[in-house]
Amino acid sequence: MIVIMGAGGATGGATLRSLAALGAPTRALSRDPARLAAALDGHTLARTTTAPADAADPASLRAAFRGAHQLLLTMANGPQQVRYELNAIEAAVDCGVEHIVKVSAPAAEPDSPVAVSRGHHLIEERLRRSGVTATVLRPYAFMQKLLLLAPGIAAGVVHGALGQARCNYVDVRDVGDAAAEVLTRPELAGGCYPLTGGRAYSHSELTALLGELLGRPVRYLDLSPTELHAHLVGRAGMPGWLATHVVEIQRLAVVREETPDDTFRRLTGRAPRSLEAFLGENLHRFR
Ligand SMILES: NC(=O)c1ccc[n+]([C@@H]2O[C@H](COP(=O)([O-])OP(=O)(O)OC[C@H]3O[C@@H](n4cnc5c(N)ncnc54)[C@H](OP(=O)(O)O)[C@@H]3O)[C@@H](O)[C@H]2O)c1
Repeated sequence: MIVIMGAGGATGGATLRSLAALGAPTRALSRDPARLAAALDGHTLARTTTAPADAADPASLRAAFRGAHQLLLTMANGPQQVRYELNAIEAAVDCGVEHIVKVSAPAAEPDSPVAVSRGHHLIEERLRRSGVTATVLRPYAFMQKLLLLAPGIAAGVVHGALGQARCNYVDVRDVGDAAAEVLTRPELAGGCYPLTGGRAYSHSELTALLGELLGRPVRYLDLSPTELHAHLVGRAGMPGWLATHVVEIQRLAVVREETPDDTFRRLTGRAPRSLEAFLGENLHRFR
């Protein structure tokens, strides 16, 4: 049995759908399993049982992990993320789970410029010391997060602090497909896998592509990190911690060049979904 912690989220949901497509039975966890079940398509629901679990409550985790052999651990960013994921690892070890796949992030290092990645490093280290087989996925920024730029794009402008640095956008559906591979092919267990799209894009290239697809100009406005933070909080209504995270991610792309890597193709045997295709599918949201 494969248990998915964070099944209602972007990566957890994508993995659930990919596993259902492979015919693998899953137990999908949520603080609100009825809401999760209502959000699943019929095909996925037919292969999934839903169950309650709150990472703040270790007893609920132990009940939810009973009888599971594998766990996908993919939880929302937030001030409690490290504590929640450590709770989940401890409960999984107690319940005899044999393989944990953790969704982490690039630059998961102790001195990472991205606070969330420093947290992922702590979780990865605990996982490696846990005694269970530990697999780590490190996807780059999800293409789906570009939908947050929709109001700006509709007004013809994208704000950022990237200069001409490029980002390795990956479609979260590909993250789900990669996670499903490592959960169903034992020979892949134990690895650490960066996940990127097929090419990296600067914001100038992104806005040029959007302009072509939309048939009207979209420009990139390059700001300082402080200006971007103020824009995200003041104009885009983002919570402060999330705006700080976005600014740090962009800083990381500036100081550490992002170049595509072929791990996704090695895992799945196919090319990653392209940014052009993703934007094309979602063009109505940018109009
Ligand atoms: N966004 C990106 O571009 C990006 C890029 C690289 C890596 N990542 C990493 O990917 C990971 C997963 O991100 P995501 O976007 O898939 O997450 P998400 O959609 O924001 O959230 C995942 C799930 O976390 C669950 N959750 C939150 N608090 C919980 C609690 N106390 N107990 C149980 N479940 C709880 C929620 O489930 P319920 O509400 O149903 O309980 C939610 O559906 C993150 O750790 C992030 O650092 C993200």
